[in-house]
Amino acid sequence: MNDTFLKACRGEKTDYTPIWIMRQAGRYLPEYQAVRGNVTFLELCKTPELCVEVTLQPIDILGVDAAILFSDILIVLEAMGTPLEFHEGRGPVFPEPIRNQTDLDKLIIPDPEEKTAFVLETIKLLRKELKVPLIGFAGAPFTCATYLIEGGSSKVFWETKKMMYTAPELFHGMMEKITQSTILYLKAQAKAGAQALQIFDSWAGILAPCDFREYALPYVQQIIHDLKETQLPIIYFANNGATLLEDSVSSGADVIGLDWRINIGDAIKRVGNKAVQGNLDPFSLLLPKDKLRGRIKRLLADAGDAKGHIFNLGHGIHQFTPPEQAKIAVDAVHELSAR
Ligand code: CP3
Repeated sequence: MNDTFLKACRGEKTDYTPIWIMRQAGRYLPEYQAVRGNVTFLELCKTPELCVEVTLQPIDILGVDAAILFSDILIVLEAMGTPLEFHEGRGPVFPEPIRNQTDLDKLIIPDPEEKTAFVLETIKLLRKELKVPLIGFAGAPFTCATYLIEGGSSKVFWETKKMMYTAPELFHGMMEKITQSTILYLKAQAKAGAQALQIFDSWAGILAPCDFREYALPYVQQIIHDLKETQLPIIYFANNGATLLEDSVSSGADVIGLDWRINIGDAIKRVGNKAVQGNLDPFSLLLPKDKLRGRIKRLLADAGDAKGHIFNLGHGIHQFTPPEQAKIAVDAVHELSAR
């Protein structure tokens, strides 16, 4: 069992810097495309045997130090009772967005064992196969809320901010429901065998710091507080969150995820005595090998003062990235960080 990743999460000394890659199981891998060619994305998410297969692909192909459960942050929202569709080329669509109290009242707080049994089954099957730790995950309530309110992905988040500012009670009511569902969902993942939990706050960076503190952070704090009983390391990743670092620390997470828009050394000074995860620009995987290795070497040096460092990209790997480039990065991290 390779537990380097878990040691780094806990801030313990490791023989080298562990690495995994956000979205490591996904479309950039021809092996993923082959599986996905036969089923829709949601069918894939709901078929444990296939989820196991694609979760394992990057472990074998890239040699990363952790596995992340193959699923999606939107699965728990569908379980709350709102229909979810994925349209080719357009991404997720909620055809019945949540815009008023009547919409919100229809949402339930699902029993994970009943409504997301396929996720828990995937975790149990994976634990029998894996020789690296398994990361479970969920979306942060704010990020989840944007999808429910907008009815899918957005660029300007008009409906979300409109609800925050003009119907705050409705907004907070929705956040409360998502938070309760997420706590049960992550506790169930822990019980099924997840060994670390990551909370993805992909859209936290669209908020002014004061709004992040008022509308988003308290719910992340509540989730992390309630998950303490699992004793699992918790990673909080606020994308575009360089301006929110001190607040991210106050989430209570054990590991702070960093995107690529900040120098990792500067971030570590602000994060203090906590492990960090990140922060290579996903597109830097396009650099020629020597330049890519040079950049990784510098990043590792800049991260030298961290209490623990888990190497990762600053966001998910882009779907057109050549897998060989990801492999160069994984090997470089292992080789250049060996102590
Ligand atoms: O390998 C892994 O990281 C595990 C699996 C995983 C997926 N989505 C699979 C996926 C994880 C951890 C996620 C998280 C997720 N999903 C986030 C947070 C992380 C981030 O990227 O900010 C968000 C915002 C979503 C919502 C989502 N799912 C969108 C917006 C889309 C479509 C656009 C896109 O980026 O592809 C998805 C689809 C999705 N989720 C795919 C995969 C592999 C592609 C689906 C396909 O095969 O067509």
